[in-house]
Amino acid sequence: MTQDELKQAVARAAIDYVVEGEIIGVGTGSTANFFIDELAKIKDRIKGAVASSEATANRLKLHGIDVLDLNQVDYMPVYIDGADEITPHGAMIKGGGGALTREKIVASVAMQFVCIADGSKLVNVLGNFPLPVEVIPMAQAAVARKLSALGGEPRLRMKDGKPVITDNGCIILDVVGMRILHPTELESQINNIPGVVTVGLFAQRGADIALLGTANGIQKYTF
Ligand code: A5P
Repeated sequence: MTQDELKQAVARAAIDYVVEGEIIGVGTGSTANFFIDELAKIKDRIKGAVASSEATANRLKLHGIDVLDLNQVDYMPVYIDGADEITPHGAMIKGGGGALTREKIVASVAMQFVCIADGSKLVNVLGNFPLPVEVIPMAQAAVARKLSALGGEPRLRMKDGKPVITDNGCIILDVVGMRILHPTELESQINNIPGVVTVGLFAQRGADIALLGTANGIQKYTF
């Protein structure tokens, strides 16, 4: 099976976690996109969706799924999203698609976080994937120095020769060379640096369930 077929298989399996008549939180990225396409098939059975990015909101709307403002929502049973890396304990690196802040906000409201990913995302130690950190532009250099002091090498995320600007008007520093043995602690440390909006470590509020697509079928982890 190709990586896309594995993503599609977990996206399909995630439909079982959608609660009928309720609001669903929807993540960002290629796996989340497959999930949105599956969600469209049962759109009449949900109240609507909260999107974790403009890109996700647009895809949901294209499918005719109601997109709700998070400020109107006080109960969301499930949030479904991909990950760049996930440990056997449910801690994740996210933000490869640049939507880490809104993903963390929407996930924080949901009762349950269901992570969907192809099996290649499962790692024992986080950090091989560059750790995304969303930063207020004026703090770029100051935050970069602090991240270097923590042992990483921050690199400004660029696209087409220009810095990537997030949905929140911020930049992203991707930190390479981190071997993250204590993700919960590092999440607090980086979030406490002035100028950091969000670090793409999802450890304090990690996944509750992971559905990982492998050649031998879907492996389910409960944390
Ligand atoms: C988006 O900002 C990310 O957090 C994604 O969830 C993550 O990058 C996984 O993306 P893919 O599903 O495209 O691998």
